[in-house]
Amino acid sequence: MKALVTYYSQTGNTEKLARAIYKAIHVEKKLLPIEELKSVEGYDIIFVGFPVQAHSVPAKLLPFFKSLPDGQKIALFCTHGSLRGGHLPKQALEHAIGLSSRAKVLGTFGVRGQVNPKVIDRLMNMVEHRAWAEEAQGACDHPNDADLADGKEFARGILAKICR
Ligand SMILES: Cc1cc2nc3c(=O)[nH]c(=O)nc-3n(C[C@H](O)[C@H](O)[C@H](O)COP(=O)(O)O)c2cc1C
Repeated sequence: MKALVTYYSQTGNTEKLARAIYKAIHVEKKLLPIEELKSVEGYDIIFVGFPVQAHSVPAKLLPFFKSLPDGQKIALFCTHGSLRGGHLPKQALEHAIGLSSRAKVLGTFGVRGQVNPKVIDRLMNMVEHRAWAEEAQGACDHPNDADLADGKEFARGILAKICR
């Protein structure tokens, strides 16, 4: 069994979660920022992580999703400023599932990630971003230890699905 954990992270939140997921996996494994990923061939499972941006998946991830082989097993994880379990991050994960139409998505996971207060101030004045920007004020100190522990649990659950 060979696993890849790959991620895009602008300010380190998604990277933290990616590292926790990587730690929880006890099979042959690789951890790579998506910018350094040369090939997606040869993995039994790929965990892919991203920060929610503008309610969706950052454009940087699009070539990755396009390059996935048919039937590739993947698990999606994200960090976001808005409330955990709310409809906003769900929407972004659904978008990612849509982009992964050729792949087999085994699960999704999201936790909050702190947002630069300057970014919140700027986006508060933009109608389309106000809802999450208001929620994002409470995301400071995330992802925290409990979030990372949940991320590890998520990773173990995905591996258990494959090994069943
Ligand atoms: C330009 C920009 C747009 C963002 N848009 C959203 C959004 O629509 N919804 C949300 O919940 N969080 C949004 N965020 C917050 C990030 O998703 C959150 O801070 C995330 O944890 C950042 O992860 P990173 O440190 O790995 O880059 C946005 C952040 C930035 C900088």
